[in-house]
Amino acid sequence: MCSSKPNHSATVLAGRALLRVFNGQPLETSLQRYRESKHYPNVSFLCFQTLRHYFSLAERLRMLLNCNHTTLDREVWAVLLIGACQLQFSSTPRAACVNHLVESIKKLGKTSASSMINAVLRKYDNTTPIQENTSKYELPNWTIDWIQTEYPLHAVSILENNTQHPPLTLRINVNEISVQEYCALLEEQQIEFAKTVVPNAINVLNPKRMQTLPGFEEDYFAVQDLSSQLAVPLLASLPSDIILDACAFPGVKTRQIRDLYPQNQIISVDIKTRCSTWNIRTNDNVLHEHTYIQADLTNETEIDDMRFQRILLDAPCSGSGTLRRHPDIKLHCTMESVKENAELQGKLIRKLWKMLEYGGSMIYTTCSIFHAENDEIIECFLMEHQDITNEAITLPYGVSTKYGWQTIPQKDGSDGFYFCKLRKIKKNNECM
Ligand SMILES: C[S@@+](CC[C@H](N)C(=O)[O-])C[C@H]1O[C@@H](n2cnc3c(N)ncnc32)[C@H](O)[C@@H]1O
Repeated sequence: MCSSKPNHSATVLAGRALLRVFNGQPLETSLQRYRESKHYPNVSFLCFQTLRHYFSLAERLRMLLNCNHTTLDREVWAVLLIGACQLQFSSTPRAACVNHLVESIKKLGKTSASSMINAVLRKYDNTTPIQENTSKYELPNWTIDWIQTEYPLHAVSILENNTQHPPLTLRINVNEISVQEYCALLEEQQIEFAKTVVPNAINVLNPKRMQTLPGFEEDYFAVQDLSSQLAVPLLASLPSDIILDACAFPGVKTRQIRDLYPQNQIISVDIKTRCSTWNIRTNDNVLHEHTYIQADLTNETEIDDMRFQRILLDAPCSGSGTLRRHPDIKLHCTMESVKENAELQGKLIRKLWKMLEYGGSMIYTTCSIFHAENDEIIECFLMEHQDITNEAITLPYGVSTKYGWQTIPQKDGSDGFYFCKLRKIKKNNECM
């Protein structure tokens, strides 16, 4: 929980980072500027913890405010939430915690709010029962309703698992070291780990910064969620296949393709520029080793005339299967944005299908648990095309869907991902 001692600098930076999130920036982008700061671990921890518990912290604070929280200065609201998070989860004595928050708000230049912050946080009671469903599951009501409608059997576990701390999962690069040898390295350094149902994937039980794990420089592992590791093997590429990794940034799956199909030519495309790969240094190296094209795949591109034997479409989506890792999504994602994603996903799959060679296959994947971004995209697409067979998929865990496979967020396990495999065939009236 909030383990660190109160630290003004960290709280001030976290307040600013949360303000940017409230203004619509993704949390990772918002934290980017503190990456090299010695306060980064604390700032990042405070932001993640506060956002993971945003709705219950907000409800308890609202009970103590004598105004509507939306009328408060957003930075003041951010600091109140950080304070509530510290009072909720840390063992720091209340007086020290509150004094520290008051000093922090002054450092942010909001001195006029200090007495209100002092008064509210002194009354904050972390045992006050929460009333609202949204606080129980730390999600907006529309998301809870949507999950309950689409997953009547799994809704409770999905909702409960969404608030858990996610595991640190590694994909061992078996071209460089065997899983057994890597586990021995972890044992030598007394790092606890657990094997998983996915070959070559292990969970580190007391998460550390990946740079401090053995073999970081040697490329012995990549940090990659368990479900995310399931997509690339579905490509089942032959060595002569040219693989298109569409929507490739920041290169997590490009790296896996390189490791699994080392002989293949890989072309990675994304709308983002490669140079902004600030966060995953080793993936950046991989994106440099292969052809990387910056292009908007909904428009004309320089590779439109190429034909590929395998296409991985890791489509942009709501990220609703990864709320534990990206708790800011629950503040940013709306029903409208899910619809917008669905439109983009439809455009991307249609465009990329034209670039798939007959006999070749496409893996469509998202880290979403909403059918609108998954089976419903495929259903629409199948209705428009006759040159497709939808191939069955069975994976080590998850559930079969009408057109593919869905994993759902597991306790101490993997994220929610969707997978679908489509093969391109000649239409009945065309010769092979
Ligand atoms: C789920 S992420 C891809 C993650 C990546 N495959 C990996 O494993 O590291 C989706 C990506 O789609 C990209 N994207 C969104 N719209 C796009 C477009 N119109 N053309 C190309 N890429 C797009 C985003 O920039 C984002 O990097």
